[in-house]
Amino acid sequence: MADTAIINEADEFVTAGFTGSPEELIPLLQYYQNTYGYISPPGAEKIACFLGISAAKVFTVASFFAQFRFKKPGENHICVCLGTACHVQGGDELSQEVQEHLHIQSGDTTPDGRFDFEEVACLGCCAQAAVVEVNGKIYAKMSRDKLRNVLEQYDRA
Ligand code: FES
Repeated sequence: MADTAIINEADEFVTAGFTGSPEELIPLLQYYQNTYGYISPPGAEKIACFLGISAAKVFTVASFFAQFRFKKPGENHICVCLGTACHVQGGDELSQEVQEHLHIQSGDTTPDGRFDFEEVACLGCCAQAAVVEVNGKIYAKMSRDKLRNVLEQYDRA
């Protein structure tokens, strides 16, 4: 049974164009996250088995890169910028507002799966500080009150 599962998993990766070379670890992690949204423990096992390396190595390499997620993402993705420009303009207060509103910490997803939240170093629009991004939409020159209104809009959506 386990052998069948491994063959099926290998089929998925082969179909996606991978050969099983350990050098494919990063592209395979990217493929897996694009397909499933995050790198789960079973996902790391699948990748490790396919490449002939340990799951520990998969996690060690993946955790080196900020692009990889290890928790299931929410339906709505909230990023609060804590880069220098946003920090000066109250980024920490915005992060606090999200934490109090959703009752989660950076890197977590709400239990109902509606929201995940992440603090990031810079969203590339420092002149608009303080900046929050929700589902790819930039909210500029944010204050705690403005952010509360935005979060309430998504609550009702
Ligand atoms: S520091 Fe926040 S967008 Fe650059």
